Amino acid sequence: MCGIIGYVGKQKASAIILEGLKRLEYRGYDSAGVAILHGGRFEVAKKAGRVDGLMKSTSAQKITGTTGIGHTRWATHGGVTDANAHPHVSSDGKIALIHNGVIENYANIKKFLLTKGYTFKSETDTEVLCNLLAYHYEKEPAVAEGSRFLESVRKTLRHIDGTYGIAVLCTDCPAEIVAARKGSPLILGVGDGEYMLASDVSAIISRTQNVVYLKDGEMVHITAKDFSISTLDAEDISPVIDTINWKIEDAELNGYAHFMEKEIFEQPTALENAMRGRFSEDGSTAQFGGLNTTASEFRQIERFHFLACGSAWHACLIAEHLIERFARVPVDVDYASEFRYRNQPLANSKLFFFISQSGETIDTLAAMREAKRKGYKVLAINNVVGSSIGREADGGIYQHVGPEIGVASTKAFTSQLLISALLALYLARMRDMSFSDGVEFVQALKGTPDLVRKTLLLAPAIKEIAKRYAHYHDFLFLGRLSLFPVALEGALKLKEISYIHAEGYPAAEMKHGPIALISEQCPSVFFVPSGEMFTKVVSSMQEIKARKGKIIAIASEQCDLPDGLADDVIRIPECHEAVLPIIATVPVQLLSYYMAVELKRDVDKPRNLAKSVTVE
Ligand code: AGP
Repeated sequence: MCGIIGYVGKQKASAIILEGLKRLEYRGYDSAGVAILHGGRFEVAKKAGRVDGLMKSTSAQKITGTTGIGHTRWATHGGVTDANAHPHVSSDGKIALIHNGVIENYANIKKFLLTKGYTFKSETDTEVLCNLLAYHYEKEPAVAEGSRFLESVRKTLRHIDGTYGIAVLCTDCPAEIVAARKGSPLILGVGDGEYMLASDVSAIISRTQNVVYLKDGEMVHITAKDFSISTLDAEDISPVIDTINWKIEDAELNGYAHFMEKEIFEQPTALENAMRGRFSEDGSTAQFGGLNTTASEFRQIERFHFLACGSAWHACLIAEHLIERFARVPVDVDYASEFRYRNQPLANSKLFFFISQSGETIDTLAAMREAKRKGYKVLAINNVVGSSIGREADGGIYQHVGPEIGVASTKAFTSQLLISALLALYLARMRDMSFSDGVEFVQALKGTPDLVRKTLLLAPAIKEIAKRYAHYHDFLFLGRLSLFPVALEGALKLKEISYIHAEGYPAAEMKHGPIALISEQCPSVFFVPSGEMFTKVVSSMQEIKARKGKIIAIASEQCDLPDGLADDVIRIPECHEAVLPIIATVPVQLLSYYMAVELKRDVDKPRNLAKSVTVE
């Protein structure tokens, strides 16, 4: 899940490309590089590490020329070295290439190219594709220059197994780029006398709001004056130009230290945006504009199936809880990555939901295509308008929380919980939920942003707690019912940004093994709701206390915790059962954030991770 960018125009390409790479860096930050085509030759600057390092320690910023490509890497094939950094140049010097994806049949192709005298400087699958492009360009009959370049790329891609978002330069074709996608996102930016390519809009939004979202199997040929889109089978495509609905300011830090911190504190507004226009006029249920599914269709459905990855999978578990609790319809939940290959028997009257912030997570996209291939209706809950999952689903619900740049999902996760609660309400009011219960549910959802604002006021206190716990190496997060997935999310947040080992469990499950981890060196974070589960959770806490385990309790205001049972207590506002997972998530977001800051971690770009996982 690398970040790729390209530019053809009148401006100094290297400056625009480096600016764009900085905005794409959350997609992968193992190495960065640029290649500028000027005077019939390439000037390449690339380096392992961050874009800043590339700008400081290479000539990248000085390179002149108005046509170029750039790349930030998340390593798949070959270590994090300067040689494996992109762009790659073919051994005959004619072709330069950047690539996001995985070439599965690269080893066989490499064997073939070695017999043709091509040489390799890196361990990457991408350099193999680069030399294959040069091989086909050599072989391609000399017709009108432009199309020889385009046709040779087209021919090459027909030999490729795997996924790619690529942009290619050719020394014989000044002011031209050929790009293509299969499985990895690629966007064309249509500017004023200039064209850009990018893996996502954040890299080009400062130059244009007009974009073309390329589909799988599509190629674009950019020249100084124009662009044309066609398929791998040489079928011409008339482009649809969309307008991006957010601004560059939305992708700025605006005074926060990290995007994660900014996105945690943006949650009240994000939740307001996610629920805007989604309540019925009579105020007793929810309504959605893009589901493309009638109420009678929904009534026929006997089971729902939710699929996703990572934090979005945790949101699926909460959607399962809320729909089964309030709408009384059974729900299945699966990891999208497992679903494809598990091939489980599926009930007929089933409807699928796929949750994905980026809309480009390849395991979720592939699982959606699998369910669609099996003849099921597939709906998406997604945050990026124009993303593959958003466009290929039969219908869906956009989250409208604006760009999420921090790799650790925060506002996207809580808005997925809110949308799941809206969905549960919508399905419940279609079945047995009364008008008055519906009105109460709607009022509770409308009150959520203020409850989150109230919970965010705990930030300074949570910061102090985080400072005192940041030196521990193991944590257990424990919750019951809808708070079990929140325990999973809390553990994931701590793992992914502070690199502290953490596990989430249903609190009662703890005594069937995980309690063996408990000592004064392994603290536990307990979610303690008031109501029916309170006493059960308190007895689990006492089992931990009996073994000298330290306890941080995230407890609802009214639950009467025995004195001294918890070492630290974070009091969250009382709220409706359907809203509780949202409110309980905020303290664990803050806890993991402040622990990561205390440990001086790179919060927005945690090691080994990337914002959207576009490779299997
Ligand atoms: C969450 O903090 C992680 N960034 C990761 O688990 C993420 O939720 C997962 O990769 C799914 O991403 P998506 O929602 O964009 O599909």
